[in-house]
Amino acid sequence: MSDTYLTLVNTGLTKKLAGRLGLPRPVPLLRHQPGQPLVAGPVLVLGSESSADDAKAVAAALGGWAVDVRRDVVPGETYAAVVLVLTEIAHPDELSAPVLAVGGMLRSLARHGRIVTLSRPATPDDAPAVAAARQAVDGMLRSLAKELRGGSTANGVVLASEVGAQAPSVLGALRFFLSTRSAFVDGQLLMVDSEAGTLPADWDAPLTGRVAVVTGAARGIGAAIADLLALDGAKVVVVDVPAAGEALAGVANRVRGTAVQLDITAPDAGERILEHTVGRHGRLDIVVHNAGILRDRLLANMTQERWDAVLAVNIAAQLRINEQLLTSGEFTQAPRIVSIASTSGIAGNRGQTNYGASKGGVIGMVRATAPLLTAYGGTANAVAPGFIETDMTAKIPFAPRELARRASSLSQGGLPIDVAEAVAFLASPAAGGIVGRVLRVCGQNLVGA
Ligand code: NAI
Repeated sequence: MSDTYLTLVNTGLTKKLAGRLGLPRPVPLLRHQPGQPLVAGPVLVLGSESSADDAKAVAAALGGWAVDVRRDVVPGETYAAVVLVLTEIAHPDELSAPVLAVGGMLRSLARHGRIVTLSRPATPDDAPAVAAARQAVDGMLRSLAKELRGGSTANGVVLASEVGAQAPSVLGALRFFLSTRSAFVDGQLLMVDSEAGTLPADWDAPLTGRVAVVTGAARGIGAAIADLLALDGAKVVVVDVPAAGEALAGVANRVRGTAVQLDITAPDAGERILEHTVGRHGRLDIVVHNAGILRDRLLANMTQERWDAVLAVNIAAQLRINEQLLTSGEFTQAPRIVSIASTSGIAGNRGQTNYGASKGGVIGMVRATAPLLTAYGGTANAVAPGFIETDMTAKIPFAPRELARRASSLSQGGLPIDVAEAVAFLASPAAGGIVGRVLRVCGQNLVGA
């Protein structure tokens, strides 16, 4: 599905006309290309005085990745990104100097620029001023993300109390947010819970030696996830219903993996996935629960069949498969579960009580499944897409589709690759300290939470 409006307002005469009429002009986002540098210009590292040590550590890590780091604004210079380190702030008063310094350089932020904060979560154990300062970062960042233009984004990494600024998942999340891999992630704060995880030897092939299963991989987002996990070095097993067998075989061939024709609601789906994957590839490390369906109706018109079908595919099947994996003794080598949720499961969506319930269920499930995996160095997390251009969203009637597409800070829908990038990051060794979390890939969808 292509976005004709986005093309028109960025080409030729229609671009000029849109400018004259003052129409919103979404910018085509830059996506990751293999071999691309992490950032396309200098990165400014700023911070509160209290967070100077962490700012220094972050600057050193960036320097280690061959990034051109600046600690002060140089007049006339353009920046690819700003990292704002606020990990040790103890009072909201401490925000004014560093945040206004970012304000002062915003006109020097390049197109497709990145702003990334590092902060800590506000907890009930904090002194009120500390909690206020920490929570203030959240509100500031989400507001700033709504002010940026030109394909730029603002996101935050939130470090749990025992987590240092150079923990693998802090650096992994920082890299993800700085890079074009997070093109459609905006206004999000991602929590790093622990120092678990490892930095990959090769950032372009972080999944080397790993075996991954992707459900619903015959088309759309699932096919994009399979492609990217393979590109990142994993051996990939693709799963979809027998009716999609031909397309599924095409994806399996493309990624040099294998295919399993399977309805994931089958009572023994987990066992069959394991049997195939361990039998053919010797191990199973990553499971991406992507298969999902829509059967929209207002609740007043909802039928039992529509409710049950959505709950069965979108959540009950995942619960059953996970249970079979967890009790098999075969899913124990730093395993990763990444489930596709939806912003409908967070903010709700009219006509989607069944879908919203199933996707809210996914979020609850990963939160409670993650602790069962930590003993093996494993994690479970969810990715919640907003509006993504696929066959599924192409079926939405024109007016609500156009509304959903534009109602985000980036004024456009995402692409399947945007969801795939977030999944690949959460499946990677560097994300080992991110446990039971939800990462939204929604361009900072303006509807709801
Ligand atoms: P899609 O409809 O294009 O692809 C879904 C795939 O899942 C299809 O190949 C289908 O055959 C397969 N599938 C369905 N039921 C299955 C079953 N019982 N067993 C095995 N495979 C099954 O959907 P799309 O857009 O690629 O969505 C993928 C995931 O992303 C879904 O979980 C969806 O809910 C979620 N999502 C999509 C959004 C979007 O804007 N497209 C937004 C938010 C979430």
